[in-house]
Amino acid sequence: MTNKELRYLTDHYDEKIETINRLCAPLNFIFITDQHNELVKSVVPVIESMQYILDRCPGIHFLVSGGDIGNDYNPDPNGMRASHIRIMEAMYSLGIPVHCCIGNHDDGLGNMIAQHWDNRNAILPDEMHRICGKYNPTNRNYYYTDIDTEGGDYRLVFLDCTDKPYLTDANGQYPYGWRLEISDEQAEWFENNVLNTDRGIFVFSHSPLSNAGIYGTANMTDRIKPYDDLLGSPRLTYHVRVCKRVLALFSGHVHYDNVHYDGDLPQITTNCALLQKWAPGCPERTAGTITETAFDVVSVKGDTVYLTRFGPGTDRCVDLIRARSTMFSRNYIHN
Ligand SMILES: [Fe+2]
Repeated sequence: MTNKELRYLTDHYDEKIETINRLCAPLNFIFITDQHNELVKSVVPVIESMQYILDRCPGIHFLVSGGDIGNDYNPDPNGMRASHIRIMEAMYSLGIPVHCCIGNHDDGLGNMIAQHWDNRNAILPDEMHRICGKYNPTNRNYYYTDIDTEGGDYRLVFLDCTDKPYLTDANGQYPYGWRLEISDEQAEWFENNVLNTDRGIFVFSHSPLSNAGIYGTANMTDRIKPYDDLLGSPRLTYHVRVCKRVLALFSGHVHYDNVHYDGDLPQITTNCALLQKWAPGCPERTAGTITETAFDVVSVKGDTVYLTRFGPGTDRCVDLIRARSTMFSRNYIHN
């Protein structure tokens, strides 16, 4: 779309851009999640509008996508693929690194099974890796990247919550649909590689590691229980509680803004970029207005995370309680 056509969004951005630039934080990135591109409307214009922000905020260095990127409700599997690819190409065209967590809608299996469709043409992990792994240096769909800033040295971890067995039954069908899972292999990698650092760690995953205390994880509709617990997550939850270098957890999936402190560990979820009011507690959404989408610019400064909201909802401020410990701040927050 042209800049003029994007003004229904960008006309609301200047005040937010001023907020971000005034913070002058050493680490800034965009966090967008649950785009569900083309399920209701194309989310590509929203991504294009981010260029307006990037042109005015030179301190934003990368984008994190929280998963559920395309339209898995399209009965044509290649139509689903095309919606994934269109949203990824839009994000890649922003010219900053794009780090992706994979969502439980992204392989298409959940809806295919619910609709009793043949699911042999689902998007398997290797194909998903090709679609959204441009900045993933590994051959897995989980990885981390380290970033040094003037304010501290950080490790950003991108988990794969769809790390389930992709085995077929006697009819060649994949039996596990919406299932959220962290494999033993991924858990071991997390324990042995990810946590073995002096850096401050931020963990990104599509679904929250733990649903306890997170609004939007149960009883949101009368037909289904939409959010099952993440299989394998107790092992990770144990470690993020014990390892005080883990500063905060970010996720999507629940289509709602949560800041929940699990003891001294903040769990942050962000509303969906999708044009949909998911639950009664969510803000109203209207096409063709600033409420059409929602995403955050995340700014990390010392012991605080500032989330500046583009779209409905409010700016948020999250204490990194663990970063306030002098034992840790001496090591990874530069003075
Ligand atoms: Fe979603």
